[in-house]
Amino acid sequence: MKLDGARVLLTGATGGLGQAIARGLHERGASLLLTGRRLDVLTPLAEEVGGRAIASDLADRSAVDALLSEAGRVDVLVANAGLPASGGLHSFSVEEIDRALTVNLRAPMLLAHALSPAMVQRGGGHLLFMSSLAGRAGAPGSSVYAATKFGLRGFALALREDLAGKGVGVSVVLPGFIRDAGMFAESGGKLPPYVGTKRPDDVARAVVKAIEQNRAELDVAPLPLRAGALLASLAPGPVGAVQRKLGSVKTSESIWGGQTEKR
Ligand SMILES: NC(=O)c1ccc[n+]([C@@H]2O[C@H](COP(=O)([O-])OP(=O)(O)OC[C@H]3O[C@@H](n4cnc5c(N)ncnc54)[C@H](OP(=O)(O)O)[C@@H]3O)[C@@H](O)[C@H]2O)c1
Repeated sequence: MKLDGARVLLTGATGGLGQAIARGLHERGASLLLTGRRLDVLTPLAEEVGGRAIASDLADRSAVDALLSEAGRVDVLVANAGLPASGGLHSFSVEEIDRALTVNLRAPMLLAHALSPAMVQRGGGHLLFMSSLAGRAGAPGSSVYAATKFGLRGFALALREDLAGKGVGVSVVLPGFIRDAGMFAESGGKLPPYVGTKRPDDVARAVVKAIEQNRAELDVAPLPLRAGALLASLAPGPVGAVQRKLGSVKTSESIWGGQTEKR
């Protein structure tokens, strides 16, 4: 899929990763439809990249229809908006669980549901979903988040099979811990010295690559973390036990402690 001139709808554009993704897509010549809730961040970003700002609260179950009628034709969807949804299951209210599922999983599914028929009819388009390495491996205090990110990854990979041969690509991007900006960086969480991080620009590059090369799945993390997540997906029991011995509970607590206000 060529990004030059393509109309790209990017959700979560106001976030730490979304801003880098918007700039990365702009550099490739995309025409941007940027959404988020915070207009004070969205408007200057849209001016900077020559895009259109469309405020939308995806926790509102009727928001997707309104967003799409504002957006008009969309050639590429980058479903990036998400809540950290971290912490033990019983620290969540039912409303908080519903909100995490609605923003992180239901909204991207509905966007794809609404946008893909026209893409198939035109014989071209791309749907990209922002999951996480938490969509490949379980970690303490991430049951709600992992449910949404495993779900999104499964949705993307299965939809990719349905749309194969119809001119519409589907990708899923799985970042690990991202420094400098975004929900992990803002949490103030402390990682053990052997766990590496990547930057928002690395995620933006992966998004561009996934769309242009129709890649099924791209991880954005240093090699040891990618290998660890892969191993955890193959043998979750033993790898979880080793992780706990290495202090995964303490690490997770340091992250979710700084994210509860984003629920
Ligand atoms: N940062 C990381 O280390 C990391 C790692 C793995 C995966 N990810 C994933 O990457 C994506 C972006 O994360 P980030 O780090 O950029 O997080 P962030 O800085 O917290 O930004 C989250 C984005 O989602 C939007 N959003 C949240 N609730 C929304 C709602 N109800 N309606 C509409 N938009 C809403 C926010 O918009 P407003 O702020 O305008 O409300 C913001 O643009 C997420 O899906 C996240 O799960 C991030």
